[in-house]
Amino acid sequence: MEIATPRKKVTAPLILARKGGPRIRMITAYDYPTATIADRAGADIILVGDSLANVVLGFDDTLSVDLDVMIHHTAAVARAHPAPLVVGDMPWLSYHGSTADAVANAGRMVREGGAEAVKVEGGRKRLSVIEGILDAEIPVMGHLGLTPQSVHAQGGYKVQGKATEAARDLIRDADALAEAGVFAIVLEGVPTVVAEIITKEVSVPTVGIGAGPHTDGQVLVFHDVLGLHDGHLAKFVRQYARLQDDAIEALADFFSDVEKGTFPSDDESYSMSEEAARALLRDEPRGDAFDAF
Ligand code: KIV
Repeated sequence: MEIATPRKKVTAPLILARKGGPRIRMITAYDYPTATIADRAGADIILVGDSLANVVLGFDDTLSVDLDVMIHHTAAVARAHPAPLVVGDMPWLSYHGSTADAVANAGRMVREGGAEAVKVEGGRKRLSVIEGILDAEIPVMGHLGLTPQSVHAQGGYKVQGKATEAARDLIRDADALAEAGVFAIVLEGVPTVVAEIITKEVSVPTVGIGAGPHTDGQVLVFHDVLGLHDGHLAKFVRQYARLQDDAIEALADFFSDVEKGTFPSDDESYSMSEEAARALLRDEPRGDAFDAF
């Protein structure tokens, strides 16, 4: 197993320059330990995704988290000082009003959360706010296709761009985002062929999730890849570990040692000098404890 650390800091321009080059390795992370793991495993991009609503906070959808929650988690990731680019996900309603509000909110992600870029869901509909954020010198990652913040508008978590005209619309959205100056585009839940066409057409890297193998990179959710929950897994998830099972087994072993009295051992306990202990126990003999001396 190759572990790539410590490494050169990854920046948005470096990701942009990866178009057509080595595939981009992206993973979500939501706090200091998960960011450290992602960094040491060799990620290029850490996305502090609003998927934390589901996998960390137990909500049913991503609509439940606001900007303060996203900043709180992004700041925890940033405190790990990871080599990967830290992208903060703009939550629902943080960029759906005026451009001025969206810029101010993206600015909070950078200033308070330590994000080095932000991700925004949506295509041409969001172009003016994306341009505003870019104009404030904040790199933007686009996100097209199945956009979870549109769960109600899209009628559920459904693959997008399956019909010819819908696919053409996605391609136009991707063109518009690339032209506006995003440094990369996440393509989620789209047919392989549509992702392939977009990847060939646009000048910026695409990062797929449920978009087939032809994108410039891939992203998955940390807790899905590592089996940290036993909830529903989408068809596109490949699970590389079952850490929830490992954690349950480890804690059960700990509790069993507690029950049996085999934890802690002498090595896991603190001692005092024999002389001090004898003086203490002389005045206050305490059965077994006194016998120890
Ligand atoms: O919130 C998230 O984790 C995401 C990725 C799945 C792309 O948006």
